[in-house]
Order: sequence, then C-alpha cells, then structure tokens
Amino acid sequence: MIEYMDVYIYIMYLTLLFFSAITIFLFCFTKPKSYTKSLPPGPSPLPIFGNLMALLPHISTPHKYFAKLAKTYGPIVSLQLGSITAIVISTPTLAKQVLHKNHSIFSTLYDLDAIGAHQHDEFSVGPLSPKSPKWKILRKIYSTQLLSEKMMENMKFHRYKKMEELMGYVRKCALDNISVDVGQALFDTSFDMICSSIFSMDSRTDSKITEIKDLMNGIITEIGRPNIVDCYPILKPIDPQRIRHRLTYYCVDLFNLFDEIIAERLTCREEKLRCSDVYSDLMDVILDVVEEQKDEITRDHVHHLLLDLLGAGMDTTSKTMEWAMAELLGNPMMLTKLQQEIDKVVGKAKFVFESDISELPYLQAIVKETLRLHPAAPLLLPRKVEQDIQIQGYQLPKGAMLIVNAWAIGRDPESWADPDTFYPERFLGSELDMKSQFLKLFTFGAGKKICVGMPLALRMISLVLGNLITCFDWKLLDKQNLGVEYDMSDQYGITLKKTKSLCAYPVTRS
Ligand code: HEM
Repeated sequence: MIEYMDVYIYIMYLTLLFFSAITIFLFCFTKPKSYTKSLPPGPSPLPIFGNLMALLPHISTPHKYFAKLAKTYGPIVSLQLGSITAIVISTPTLAKQVLHKNHSIFSTLYDLDAIGAHQHDEFSVGPLSPKSPKWKILRKIYSTQLLSEKMMENMKFHRYKKMEELMGYVRKCALDNISVDVGQALFDTSFDMICSSIFSMDSRTDSKITEIKDLMNGIITEIGRPNIVDCYPILKPIDPQRIRHRLTYYCVDLFNLFDEIIAERLTCREEKLRCSDVYSDLMDVILDVVEEQKDEITRDHVHHLLLDLLGAGMDTTSKTMEWAMAELLGNPMMLTKLQQEIDKVVGKAKFVFESDISELPYLQAIVKETLRLHPAAPLLLPRKVEQDIQIQGYQLPKGAMLIVNAWAIGRDPESWADPDTFYPERFLGSELDMKSQFLKLFTFGAGKKICVGMPLALRMISLVLGNLITCFDWKLLDKQNLGVEYDMSDQYGITLKKTKSLCAYPVTRS
C-alpha cells in the first residue's frame, strides 16, 4: 500500500514538474519583445497568451473581430498571438502601401505549419507556399500556359459540360418538387469543372476522382483549422493538434492517385493514343511542360501544382457562387432585373455562354458586388515581414505576420457608400475597368502574388450564376420565405463560407 502511494506521489510530482517547466519555458520564449513600444496600437497583451484569449470567442469570424479592433485603434493594429506579433491592415491605402509599394518586404507568405506538410512550401508556387525557390518559373507556367486566355478558351467545353449536368440535376429537382442544397451542388460543380479541365475525368464517372475529392475536402478542412503551432512555433515538433500529421497522410494518398492518373496518361501518350484531343486538358499541357523543362520541373512540382489548382480553385469559386445566389434570393427585385437582362440579350431560359458575359453588365456587377461583400479569402494569405520597416510612423518588426483584412477593405466607408448593403448598381456605368475595380477591392490579393486564377474564377462564377438565374425561378424554403431563418451569417475556415448552406426550390422557367 505504502509502495503504491509512493508511486502515486511520484507521478503527481513529475506531472507538476512537467507543467511548471512548460509554463516557465513558454513564458521565457513567448513574452513580447522590447519593440512593443513602437508597434502600431492594439489591445494590451497578457503574458504567454498575448491577445489570444480575446480572439478565441471570435475564432470563427476573425475578420469581423479585426474590423472591430480597427474601429477602436485605427487602420493599422498590432496583436500578440501567443509568441507571434501580428499586424492587421484594414484600409485600401495601407494595403496598397504594403502589397504594391513595399512588395519585396511583404511578398513572402507566412510559414503556417500546415503548409509545410509534405514539403508543400518547397514545391508549390502558392497560393499557400511561402518560399518556393521555383516560384517565378511556376507562376509563369500558370499565367502563360495553364490559365492563359487561350487555354481558358480551349477548356471551356469542360465547363459547359459540367454546367449542363448541373442544370439537368436542378431540372430534375424542379420536376420532383424537391429542394436543392445549392451550396453542395455548386461545390460539386466547381470541383468537377476544374477536375475535368485537368484530367478529363470527373467525380460522377471515376472513382479515383471521388477519392481525390474526399482527400481535397480533408485537406481544405485541416488547413482551415486554427492551429496553436502558428501562435507558438516552438510547439512545431509536437504538432499537438496532429494537423500536420493528418495533412501529410492526405497528401501521400493524393499524390499516389495523381501518379496513377499520370502513369495512365503517359502510357497513352507513348502509344500515341492521346486519351483526348491535343491540348484538350491541362494534364497534357503539364506533361509537355515537364518534358520541355526537365531540369526545372520535377514530379514533386507536378504533385503540388495539381494540389494548388484544385485547392485554390474549387472552394473559393463555389463559395462566391453560393453567396451570390443567397444575395439574389434575398433580393427578388435584383433577381428579376438580372433575369430581364439575360432574357433580352441571350433569350429567356437559353444557355448563357461565356462569350455572352461581356454583354451582361448587371450580371458582372452582381459578381463584383458579391466579391466585395463576401471575399472568399477574407484575410488573404498572411505574409511575413521580411525586414524591419516603418509604416505610418509605426515599426513593423522583421518576422511579424502581416494580415490584410480584405473583408474590412470591401466595407470601408471611405471607399464605398452604404458599405454593408448589397447594391450591384454601384458598379454599373463605372469608368473603372475590371482590374482597377479589383485594385480597390483586394479580394484576389494584390501585387506580384495576385491570384493568377482570377480570370478563370470570373468566368466560372458568371457562367454558373447566369444559367441558374435565367433557367429557373427560385423559392426559398417556407420558413425562409417568411423572413425567418434566412441565415446570411458567415464562418471563416480557409475560405469564408455561409454558416448554413443555401437550400431552395427551383421552378423551371420556360
Ligand atoms: C473567387 C475565386 C477566387 C478568389 C477570391 C481567390 C483569391 C486568391 C487570393 C486572395 C490569393 C492570394 C493573393 C495574395 O496573397 O495577394 C490567391 C492566389 C492564388 N490563386 Fe486564387 N482565388 C480564386 C480563384 C482561383 C482559381 C479558380 C484558381 C485556379 C484554378 C486560383 C489559383 C490561385 C493561385 C495559383 C494563387 C497563387 C498565386 C501566387 O502565389 O503567385 N484562384 N487567390
């Protein structure tokens, strides 16, 4: 009995010692450094935790919490997130100053722990990779080959095919008088549009693509999880939430599937039996690039490039489409106005092609207004301050995390009248071209790292929205019709999603 008590006390003693050591360790290594005096203003940090405790209740809407802080402390705010100093910027002028004027100091992405999983940080161009040595080469491949205007034209039949399939599904729901989970249907369609453009395969017909979709879902969920390691990098080797661990497994499985598809395609190419027409999908383009640039581009780069194409494209575009539908269903007069525009230009319930979009200014205005109010990446991607720099008289220390709050910028009262209201008309008749308008918005980032998929995203969103609105009338579920439970609240993951997926009844227009 005495022996048993001894062991018990011994274990208690060790546990106490262990936790005391960790506390002292964190205290020593995480206390704010002496530069705090010249930092931009912000809430007072606690020892060890900094401002984490205040942020915690707002963890699913940090963009709103940061916007609130900006109202109290001004457009540039500093926070202590554990052992990390974060600087949050909330006005277009300051965003321009850091992302354009001082681009070289702010162009590196912050090395979030999840992104290091399976060396993604080394082999990818981004959007999440902080320091790929091949960034320039890969970025050029994206902009001149994979996502060029010419390639988007060549790939449009993939998007039309998936659009037709979505319409078929919605028509069937209309016939059976059942509601459509719009959020899910749009996610599936965006994924299939991108997958089909890359592989000429989709999740309806190929089990490999279904597996890829599940793995991508897992990856997006893990990357969107708040990770304590990003606030206390000292915990990196422990990976307490196992986020990096799970991501590594997902990546291994995903890259094996990519390899199987690549092997099949290489066999076809060797036998000169191209699986599809010349350059009819991006896989062929990528394999040609690898052949031409053997010394620069390896199989690892191809894996991470495919992961980026899928990850960057599917969730961002589908969430924007869902927000646009939600706004229109909540604003029936705008919905009718859009139907009238399309009826006049394209014809009632006729298929809207991408070539029609330039003739549909109201559709374009709705897309822009949605991107303003509901930016898919509301905090863009955090950057790392590469060297000490003064901005607005404040010291931004080397190594700090820079966050640009695109959500707050889109609602900046100095730039936008009645900023919280969905009002697409504000974009009609504007002298500014699309690119200049987005310079005011920052939804797609800015500077050299601006989203390389922006033109594709705009095509996809306009195509889907135009067709869903011209071919169907939409009725919200009963409670939503009464104005009850029409939930427009948002939730931050890696993208900004609707807390409740949009569900509505379609009625076929004829
Ligand atoms: C509504 C849709 C989209 C939004 C809101 C969006 C937003 C963004 C943002 C905010 C960035 C980071 C820019 C920065 O840090 O300054 C980014 C980068 C990127 N996006 Fe998009 N994106 C969208 C669609 C797409 C699509 C469809 C693709 C391609 C299939 C794509 C591919 C990329 C790539 C490759 C990068 C990395 C660029 C680089 O680091 O050089 N995006 N995007």
